[in-house]
Amino acid sequence: MAKRHHNQKGNLESLFLHMEELVLANSGEDEFEEVFKLLIAKLWDERSQQSRFHCHSTDEVTFEAIAKLMQQAEKEWSGVLDDVKPRLTPEHLAICVDAISKHNISNDSLDVIDSFFEFIVAKSAKGAKGQYFTPRHVVELCVRILQPASSETVLDPACGSGGFLLHALSFVRRNERLDSVEELQNFCGEKLWGFDIDARAIRVAKALMVLAGDGNSNIIRLNSLLKPEMVGLFNNTDEPNLTIEDICRSRIKRHKGFDVILTNPPFAGEIREKHFLDCYTLANKKYRVERDVLFIERCLELLKPGGRLAIVLPHNKFAGNSFDFLREWVLKKARILAVIGLGRHTFLPHTHQKASILFLQKNHPSMKISPDYNIFFAISEKDGKNSKGQFILCESALEMGDAWDTIDHDFSEITENFTRFLRQENINFKD
Ligand SMILES: C[S@@+](CC[C@H](N)C(=O)[O-])C[C@H]1O[C@@H](n2cnc3c(N)ncnc32)[C@H](O)[C@@H]1O
Repeated sequence: MAKRHHNQKGNLESLFLHMEELVLANSGEDEFEEVFKLLIAKLWDERSQQSRFHCHSTDEVTFEAIAKLMQQAEKEWSGVLDDVKPRLTPEHLAICVDAISKHNISNDSLDVIDSFFEFIVAKSAKGAKGQYFTPRHVVELCVRILQPASSETVLDPACGSGGFLLHALSFVRRNERLDSVEELQNFCGEKLWGFDIDARAIRVAKALMVLAGDGNSNIIRLNSLLKPEMVGLFNNTDEPNLTIEDICRSRIKRHKGFDVILTNPPFAGEIREKHFLDCYTLANKKYRVERDVLFIERCLELLKPGGRLAIVLPHNKFAGNSFDFLREWVLKKARILAVIGLGRHTFLPHTHQKASILFLQKNHPSMKISPDYNIFFAISEKDGKNSKGQFILCESALEMGDAWDTIDHDFSEITENFTRFLRQENINFKD
């Protein structure tokens, strides 16, 4: 028997609701931005052992002390904060500071902070523009199937809050016993790459990477669908016009493509700009194309030969007649390793869309594949959520465990069957 998920974010979530009731709702400011800044200031205060995050002699003195912590945090963790000044009045700020000062963020696990960020992002964005977090047990499934190693570059070109990068990091850490700070920082600094078009998502991802122990992650705001041949067309806009290739050229030695890409592009949205469509084969001279279709082509382009991709896609890409051309194109470019169908509640409450995950390995000249090779197919029958999109926990789960261990899903069985499939088919990712 499974049980309903009870507020795993516990204290932080009720703390937020309390502050919302007291001041945030009537402040006229963006609740997410103000709470996010306060949490970062508190985290910096704890990390730097200053003990300055509390109410001082007057509200104005408190305001100055908190503003200073925000500035220092941004200096240390560049790009985590956009605005280093509280926007709340000193009176309102002091009420929030008093509430948060009793909480010790360093005592919270990364999972707790992660799901708290999800809670406040969802509250302010309401799933707008497909900017919801990928459920963490789905993220972990992708990582366990593709098994990234510390010697490999890992990319998420639609990284959002950085879920895939965080889980890749903890997988490598566990799997290879990467314990020293130096090893960890080298891996994060050289191998983990995350890009997203949304400024807020980038800040959340950076903050979570800081919490995971990496102060200097490669998380950058840009439009991942932008290709080198398109740059120059955007000089008059506010949109970022760097490409992933620009970043790789300047920061990665002898870059021949990424070893592993793990991603969940937005399910919704179409691209209509002609200069984008002209650069994508899969646009196929159409005047509008679904954004995830372009993401598939872009991911295959960014992978090195022999590199592996896990991409979460809406079900129509796997079954719809109108996407025959897409499936044929992918089959020519790569070996399909697996397709895993997810349950219909998996992405609730954000979207009702049914989704599957495509796993593949990009063609490599030395890859020998028979024309009728086998593909691993699985359908999850336990998606770990109820019809309202609330998590269902295993009966034996501890409230504080991570998503993989606590949520009632059947992904462990799927992963074991996939490992057996790899052995039977004699597939070795490291060949
Ligand atoms: C479903 S969310 C990814 C969630 C992420 N895996 C996580 O767990 O937080 C899709 C993300 O794609 C980003 N995105 C959409 N179009 C993009 C583009 N052209 N370039 C880069 N990122 C884009 C959105 O901003 C959003 O954060």
